[in-house]
Amino acid sequence: MCGIIGIVGTAPVQDRLLESLKRLEYRGYDSAGIAGVVDGRVQRRRAKGKIAALQAVLTDSPLTATVGIGHTRWATHGAPNEVNAHPQSAGRVTLVHNGIIENFAELKRKLQSSGRVFESETDTEVIAQLLDAELAAGCAPLVALKATLDQLTGAFAIAVLIEGQTDMILGARRGSPLVVGYGQGEMFLGSDALAVGPFTNRIAYLDEGDYVAIDHSSAQIFDKDGKPVERPLKIVSASAALVEKGNYRHFMEKEIHDQPDACQHTLSAYLDPVSGKATAPGGVDFSKVTRIQIIACGTAYYAGLISRYLFESLARLPVDIDVASEFRYREPPVIPGTLAIVISQSGETADTLAGLRWCKAQGLTTAAVVNVHESTMAREADVIFPTHAGPEIGVASTKAFTSQVAALSALAVAAAAARGHVDATEEARLTAVLLEASRLIAQSIQVEDAIKALAPDLAKARDVLYFGRGAMSALALEGALKLKEISYIHAEGYAAGELKHGPIALIDEATPVIVIAPSDHLFEKTMSNMSEVMARGGPIILFTDDEGAKHAPPGIKVIIAPTSDDIVAPLVFAAPIQLLAYYVAVQKGADVDQPRNLAKSVTVE
Ligand code: G6P
Repeated sequence: MCGIIGIVGTAPVQDRLLESLKRLEYRGYDSAGIAGVVDGRVQRRRAKGKIAALQAVLTDSPLTATVGIGHTRWATHGAPNEVNAHPQSAGRVTLVHNGIIENFAELKRKLQSSGRVFESETDTEVIAQLLDAELAAGCAPLVALKATLDQLTGAFAIAVLIEGQTDMILGARRGSPLVVGYGQGEMFLGSDALAVGPFTNRIAYLDEGDYVAIDHSSAQIFDKDGKPVERPLKIVSASAALVEKGNYRHFMEKEIHDQPDACQHTLSAYLDPVSGKATAPGGVDFSKVTRIQIIACGTAYYAGLISRYLFESLARLPVDIDVASEFRYREPPVIPGTLAIVISQSGETADTLAGLRWCKAQGLTTAAVVNVHESTMAREADVIFPTHAGPEIGVASTKAFTSQVAALSALAVAAAAARGHVDATEEARLTAVLLEASRLIAQSIQVEDAIKALAPDLAKARDVLYFGRGAMSALALEGALKLKEISYIHAEGYAAGELKHGPIALIDEATPVIVIAPSDHLFEKTMSNMSEVMARGGPIILFTDDEGAKHAPPGIKVIIAPTSDDIVAPLVFAAPIQLLAYYVAVQKGADVDQPRNLAKSVTVE
């Protein structure tokens, strides 16, 4: 999971870049590097492996620069080696990058055919080459940066040095976070407040699509259309810099917005965009697995429910799934060849842990989809399937949930390939589709204002029903859980087909119904169920995509998420569903991050 730091300093920056990179270590990485301007020229130092390896390089060959950038790289495009480590260079441009450039192959082909020679396998180098080409064509740095950004597809953050512009660092963010730090005659860019924490507590958080130029004393910030903008300066306390809320009112809101980054970093641990391969960590051989048993609690359980659709349809693997508190006392028969997968953000939930231990005691292979990598479950499971959501503070899980769904979706593709149910071409297609999820999640968050507008009405409801079909039925359960957890409104989720077996009795003009229905093969069936609700006067909010919206009957409220492949639809629809619960809770004045009676980590039975 990549981390970025940039310093326009008045004293040598090498040690401070390293200090910051150490603070970014928690994100996970497999190579590191720094670059700085020395006598008008940019010099790089990079090393595969840990920061200690980079330090050894710097002991032999110190970097005396007072302006520099640094990076921890979590390999996505290209192996973790020195050549692929950041900073990446092309001509006058040297930059570091967090995220994925989805259209890098197409851009690379174009640049190569214009005579540009690449030295690495990274998608990052494409940005450097593009920017250098714009500069070579005579554009000023900020114009060249805007022209470059306009050509990129994907979710990313960058920090850039340009030879000849020695007191300036450029930056940009789309999907991945980037902050500007204001010092005394010095300025900083960083992936988060933690990265710039040792140097300043005065921070501005860039908005989605912003780009920036910092020099010794100021930051010129522009929005995605190139309009100069100001972003509010925040004073971050030392402890808040460890895990901070940024410009957000609540951790939950921030964590909803963290999801493009969290999912991307999680997916990068499983998917190789260059080879198009999906890999299960820990050497799990899915061709030898005959059945999956998923065990989890709360939101993690719903992530498991979503993944069942993929493991079954893609990998043809039977999946049983239980809430851990039932599983541990159910005494199910042990079926050899079963892979037991526990799913847990904290890795400490007592019931889930007991389920894991029970499976281990029965001799089953156990795997933990876990966000806290030093947790008990991570230590005790045979294999860790990591999520890289970063610390989640809001009690109601958001980015940990989508990261779990992302990890499990990638594993389903890996399992499908290992079991011969998809060929290499289809594996590569699914890999590419999953790697687009971050960009689509970032887009889906853009519906925020439309959702906010629904909150005042919805906050008056006593009961709310959610329904969907397929994986969206599991998301309906999660949506209802989110709403009840933080707004204290009674909410239930149902598989749409079950509506007529009970819940329809509850429908009246005062019972809003949330329908989650992308335009997939089940869309029409869900629409029929929606009509049944409408016939009984139930007010509807439909979450769908462009195509679905065309078929929406008049008189209902429609929220349009980006169009997506079935495999990523749960990830794309999750953020709008979470935002709905969030804004209703805010409307009601509830304690969003610490709802009454609930705990983040339930370590008792
Ligand atoms: C609590 C939290 C939920 C979480 C569940 C499972 O109920 O409030 O947000 O989904 O525990 O936690 P875990 O850490 O195992 O994912």
